[in-house]
Amino acid sequence: MQTIRGFRDILPEQIALWQKVEQEAAALFESFGYREIRIPIIEKTALFARSIGETTDIVEKEMYTFEDRKGDMLTLRPEATASICRAYIQHKMYAAEPFRKFYLTGPMFRRERPQKGRYRQFYQIDAEVFGIDSPYIDSELIFLLHTLLHRLGLAGLSAHINSLGCPDCRPDFQKALLNFLGDRKDKLCENCQRRLVKNPLRILDCKAQTCRQALEGAPATVDHLCPDCRTHFETVKNSLEKLGVDFMVDDTLVRGLDYYTRTAWEIQTTTLGAQSAVAGGGRYDRLVEELGGPSTPAIGFAIGFDRLVEVLEQLDDQTYEKRPDIFIVSLGADAQKYAFEWSCKLNTMGIRTDTDFRGKSMKALMKRANKLNAALVLIVGDNELTQKKIVLRNMETKEQTEIGIENLVNDLAQLIKN
Ligand code: HAM
Repeated sequence: MQTIRGFRDILPEQIALWQKVEQEAAALFESFGYREIRIPIIEKTALFARSIGETTDIVEKEMYTFEDRKGDMLTLRPEATASICRAYIQHKMYAAEPFRKFYLTGPMFRRERPQKGRYRQFYQIDAEVFGIDSPYIDSELIFLLHTLLHRLGLAGLSAHINSLGCPDCRPDFQKALLNFLGDRKDKLCENCQRRLVKNPLRILDCKAQTCRQALEGAPATVDHLCPDCRTHFETVKNSLEKLGVDFMVDDTLVRGLDYYTRTAWEIQTTTLGAQSAVAGGGRYDRLVEELGGPSTPAIGFAIGFDRLVEVLEQLDDQTYEKRPDIFIVSLGADAQKYAFEWSCKLNTMGIRTDTDFRGKSMKALMKRANKLNAALVLIVGDNELTQKKIVLRNMETKEQTEIGIENLVNDLAQLIKN
């Protein structure tokens, strides 16, 4: 039996880096007042179709959708924003206090063509803010992302930002785009020919070579913003500049989901082969209302956790695996009995202790202690038990000290904590 194509195991040897990223992200989010939310990985298909958009690649061809035994259409979540909106509305979170900040880490599912950095089950670190349309929140989110990447050692990745306007200025832009595409229609791919009628903005996100060529010189949303959207975008840019956040305006950026309004951004990298996004997000001021909630401005982003880890792995070979404080080398049955007790007690006292009960030789056990990178090794055999004194070896300095058996656990705890 093997994993299904596009699905993979993340093994214990890889997990330390995942945990480090998760801890850094949670600490930063919590400090900015974001609270964790956990939601189901399956929702009604209609939730994603309506929010992400019927004519997006995700909804058209990438969702894992199935009919359950009662005939309900269900989908494995391809992203978290729609579900968090659903939760915000379902639990009437807006009633007590509409301004809410959430974060979430978890698996998402898209049936894309698998390659490096692209999986069918992948993980996202997601942040969403509801109930506030201030441009400072847009900047806060971009700053947060920028700070997190910096803390993880990823300097020099600049955010590509754009403004997609609002329902007031979108018709003006749409008209300009349709005008531009007037005599280039035949050059568009089959999908985009359909989109031309249904959702012309989607064409801007098409990856087909012919469409890319047809779009050269196409109008940009930033040139068609209404005064409110223009001022909003100016404030985002100015406040980011003030904080020294590295960004560039990319007027070709439209994102692959339909719900966006105003600010949208992505962090891209070339380290993963083809140009790809490590994170992306934007404002979606209409979505809560469209899903049946009260009119609520909202904004968020998601980091591609798998991609971020892959970029970090290429950057440094530092190991984040936690080393044991003590490894107990026990030689003989009696020694194993003691090793078992000491190890259990030390671990409950917060001292990372490991041992091995396979009855291996001194040489093999020292090799294992070295492999685990233990800081201290306690060597116990029949002689030590008779003399009631155990050898403690510092693996870095190679210094050896003797330690009495009577009060061993407490003495060791004292020694390590000092
Ligand atoms: P997205 O751009 O579709 O946005 O995904 C966000 C990130 O998830 C991408 O930048 C990428 O790093 C990662 N990602 C997407 N697909 C895959 C895949 N197949 N394999 C590995 N990584 C992948 C969203 O999902 C929005 N919900 C973001 C958002 C939150 N907007 C507002 N709030």
